Amino acid sequence: MKLPNSVRNWLSLLGAGIAAMNLFIIGFILALSFFYDIGSSYVGLFIYIILPMFFVGGLILIPIGMIRTNRKLKRKLLTDDKLAWPKIDFNDRKVRNVSILFSFGTVFILIISSMGSYHAFHYTESVEFCGKLCHQVMAPEYTAYHQSSHERVKCVECHVGEGSGWYMRSKLSGLYQVYSVIAKKYPKPIPTPLENLRPARETCEQCHWPQKFYDSKLKHKRSYLADETTTEHNIVMKMKTSASISAKGISEGIHWHINPDIKIEYIASTKDREKLPWVKYTNLKTGEVKLYLEPDNLLSEKQIDSLETRTMDCLDCHNRPSHDYHNPQNFIDEFISSGAISKDLPDIKVVAMDILNQDYPNTDSAMIAIKSQVLEYYDIMYPEILKANKDGISKAITAIQKGYSSNIFPEMGVSWKVYPNHLGHLETNGCFRCHNDKHVTNKGETISRDCNLCHDIVSQGKTGKMENATLDKPLEFFHPIDIDKQWETQLCSECHAQLY
Ligand code: HEC
Ligand code: HEC
Ligand code: HEC
Ligand code: HEC
Ligand code: HEC
Ligand code: HEC
Repeated sequence: MKLPNSVRNWLSLLGAGIAAMNLFIIGFILALSFFYDIGSSYVGLFIYIILPMFFVGGLILIPIGMIRTNRKLKRKLLTDDKLAWPKIDFNDRKVRNVSILFSFGTVFILIISSMGSYHAFHYTESVEFCGKLCHQVMAPEYTAYHQSSHERVKCVECHVGEGSGWYMRSKLSGLYQVYSVIAKKYPKPIPTPLENLRPARETCEQCHWPQKFYDSKLKHKRSYLADETTTEHNIVMKMKTSASISAKGISEGIHWHINPDIKIEYIASTKDREKLPWVKYTNLKTGEVKLYLEPDNLLSEKQIDSLETRTMDCLDCHNRPSHDYHNPQNFIDEFISSGAISKDLPDIKVVAMDILNQDYPNTDSAMIAIKSQVLEYYDIMYPEILKANKDGISKAITAIQKGYSSNIFPEMGVSWKVYPNHLGHLETNGCFRCHNDKHVTNKGETISRDCNLCHDIVSQGKTGKMENATLDKPLEFFHPIDIDKQWETQLCSECHAQLY
């Protein structure tokens, strides 16, 4: 087939070669992955992003080469036509051939590139792409995500949401992130809260209707004390998520904060939003306004003007809906409660907490230390148990290792301390950042810390010796070990953040 002379140049040929080769490789890998399950996240990166980039690059080289040779030919032959643009004359066989080739080529490329970009879109929106491509960087978030109730919700549904504006925004910031991973410039741990996270209204509320009434929920927490017999302590609480009567909807209870008639704003004096000395409540229906300030911690005019005033939404309580790093206290209690760690091993909670509160440079050294320290402890303190219950001890070691590797990530500097969960008040202040009896209005009203405001204690105590509430009156809290009345005057976190 005759083609214009301008095609015959090394650049266009090279371009055509590159394009053809890449198309062949893409087709080959696609065919392979169709017949065999090559389930690696890198395959997607190659077929949908890297190889197509070379394919397009090759295609672009073809016209560049043609233009260059055309110019050269013109200069050499000094042809009489002084026209700036080529003449298209379909009576010329070469022009006809190249036009047909060009038309078919364009249609073909349009079809495969629309298919390709559709797949590229889906691929870059996939959990695999977000969570697995930069293994080490995203490992903590990806691991915690798989332990959450949002395991089936894609990363992008919370982090990007709907609409092309946020899509472009996320892809542009994604380009910078790829660069920072390659250049190893990313911060460890990745800072939180994410200031540029899309407002909860446009993400969470797409699935969870805020006006929806959530019935009260019973929570049974089983904890174990760090003593020789690992004493069990239970507390059963009725969480008052909405009002007790459904007709009242969310005009009372915990979800009262997201009542559309209510607006709660705050100013955080620290970047991590742990200290909130300025809280303002506005009732949008009645126009009532209350300003709560902490007398010990007043902000200056300048601070009030310069710091962000944030309106409270879902994320101020549910800040770890998908990446909740449990603290050792919690995950060890869960393992003991499920039987993965046997309560028959004396001191097991003391040993586990002691080991888990040390810092390790990486996960591997933690795994080794957990094993050797547990064995060493029982070898010295209870050699007869080490002999008689070898199975129980090695089961306990496996569980402690599993708890560590799914919740603590030394390589990225990630743990519950770095990303505290605000849904509670024991180890970190959470609700008690505001509900601490220290925020007062000029009329002397406080944001209450009454133990029955958010939950009713339904029963509590040691298994077999539980104290139960009557229908109309909840129990008064008693602290599992005798600390006088200190739990009434101090914040729980003052002791519980550094108990072990
Ligand atoms: C249910 C919603 C949701 C899903 C699903 C989700 N995230 Fe998040 N993610 C959040 C929220 C909320 C934060 C913390 C926001 C804050 O405190 O500002 C966050 C924070 C992060 C951070 C910042 C560091 C940190 O831990 O605070 C990274 C990185 C991250 N997510 C990655 C991912 C990846 C990767 C996936 C998918 C495997 C994913 N997320 C899925 C809601 C979600
Ligand atoms: C794409 C839909 C979707 C989005 C977006 C979403 N969720 Fe969920 N959420 C779910 C599903 C599904 C469940 C699981 C329900 C179950 O297990 O009963 C759930 C469960 C929950 C629960 C109860 C279980 C738990 O883990 O405590 C909370 C709280 C929650 N979501 C908060 C949030 C918050 C906060 C956001 C925004 C950052 C969010 N969700 C975004 C679908 C979604
Ligand atoms: C003032 C803090 C706060 C705010 C704001 C808040 N929640 Fe909650 N939410 C809670 C608490 C506390 C619970 C009780 C659940 C528990 O203890 O696990 C809860 C329960 C839930 C549940 C689970 C209900 C169940 O029975 O399992 C969902 C889903 C939920 N919230 C979604 C949301 C969404 C969506 C928003 C924003 C529109 C939101 N919450 C705002 C504190 C809050
Ligand atoms: C940013 C500050 C702030 C945070 C954080 C906060 N609250 Fe509140 N909360 C308030 C204010 C302000 C009020 C209203 C106090 C008043 O005027 O009586 C309130 C009232 C309440 C009420 C009473 C609602 C009613 O029925 O009238 C409940 C229940 C409650 N909060 C639960 C929680 C829980 C649970 C958390 C933690 C998950 C939490 N709050 C976190 C500011 C906060
Ligand atoms: C502003 C609301 C609020 C107030 C006030 C409050 N709590 Fe809580 N409490 C919570 C929430 C939310 C949780 C977490 C429930 C969960 O884990 O889902 C919680 C959890 C607990 C737990 C279980 C802790 C665990 O993880 O083992 C105990 C015990 C408890 N509260 C006791 C108290 C006592 C005692 C007081 C009074 C000094 C009090 N609470 C006041 C909201 C509150
Ligand atoms: C003066 C220090 C102190 C204060 C304040 C305090 N605790 Fe404790 N708490 C302890 C100690 C010590 C233990 C025993 C820990 C162990 O043996 O594992 C404990 C154990 C517990 C346990 C059982 C084990 C566990 O960690 O889950 C619960 C539940 C508990 N405390 C709840 C609370 C609550 C809720 C508050 C705040 C209202 C509070 N504590 C305030 C010192 C304190």
